[in-house]
Amino acid sequence: MVHASFTSILAFFLFFSSGCATAPKVEDPYSFGVELMADSSPESAQNEGSSPATAHTAAQEIPLVGLRGLAAAYHLDFGAAVAFKALSISKYAQIVSSEFSTLTPENEMKWQYIHPVAGSYELFFGDQLVQFAQSHQMKVRGHTLVWHNQLPRWVSESVTTEDALLKLVTEHVSTIVGHYRGKIAKWDVANEVIDDAQGMRDTLFYRLSGTEFLSTAFRAAHEADADALLYLNDYSVEAINPKSNRLYELCKALLAQGVPLHGVGLQAHWDLDDLPSMSSVRKNIERFAALGLKVDITELDIRMKGAPTPERLRVQAEAYAALVRVVLDTEGSDSITVWGVDDGHSWVPQWMSSYGSALLLDGKYRAKQAYAAVVGELSNR
Ligand code: XIL
Repeated sequence: MVHASFTSILAFFLFFSSGCATAPKVEDPYSFGVELMADSSPESAQNEGSSPATAHTAAQEIPLVGLRGLAAAYHLDFGAAVAFKALSISKYAQIVSSEFSTLTPENEMKWQYIHPVAGSYELFFGDQLVQFAQSHQMKVRGHTLVWHNQLPRWVSESVTTEDALLKLVTEHVSTIVGHYRGKIAKWDVANEVIDDAQGMRDTLFYRLSGTEFLSTAFRAAHEADADALLYLNDYSVEAINPKSNRLYELCKALLAQGVPLHGVGLQAHWDLDDLPSMSSVRKNIERFAALGLKVDITELDIRMKGAPTPERLRVQAEAYAALVRVVLDTEGSDSITVWGVDDGHSWVPQWMSSYGSALLLDGKYRAKQAYAAVVGELSNR
């Protein structure tokens, strides 16, 4: 069945793919002139620097066949982080809607953009993305309500007590989740709250309130939309390791307090030279699922250092396929989101010097071996 549809559109694709436009260089989507807090670069990022060329090394064209349809046969959501600005590129927009069943706003719902000034919300860009998703029968993953990065400076300047912080968190979360009530299926309520030394991350939120900001944020989100599934999202927590152990303990503690926590998001920003063990990823997903939590892969990309070679792209393809396999085989996990549509719209080259080629499509929207491997995993079961 799946195979039949795969072959039937091959001929169409070969014609279609020959005239792809070149993707423009990615840039941060908006500059509203909002001053950010000093620690506003993602922890998982390394130095900023020049980006390597996103070379295309595939020998033959690989057809785009609609991952969303293949994944749906397994009740798997297959999504992408999408930048509002890039939707003006028709090829990009067309791929988003034909390949992906869920959409995560890459930046547009972050505090910096959605709440740039005290008491003032900028919902236009988020609204546009939600509208795009709705008109293409895509679900939306809201990202992200409480995060120490991409947080405007006014927050730390105006908030100095626990009371003021919790009041602001409640206002922020209630306003946004309430605005999107019924339109956003899942929220990354809090992002990256565990630090790499395995304690709670030392942020303004934690300094002023301990873990109270978490219960406050989750409760406010649940009150604003009782149907939305609420997640804690973090990176380097895909396998069993000290950081994921800490996240696991935190989840248990929140659940014991009756906090409406429904799932964990495993970001999965991976380095091809430092991949986690897939059996450990599987066990990790299973232990969170055993707590009654959903486990979503929320920001998958697999970066490589330097120019991609056919061999490196092949290894990358295997890694993508292996993760899809684990997700399909594991109870409690039914959602994978890649952090960007194509290598021309990936955060990796901008944030991690000399790394790139992390996504399923290259910088000219051509499917890579990784794409074909995912299709294979979704077709041959
Ligand atoms: C990244 C975006 O992709 C970039 O455009 C932006 O400049 C910085 O943030 N973890 C997250 C995401 O949770 O929100 C980050 O997104 C990548 C790391």
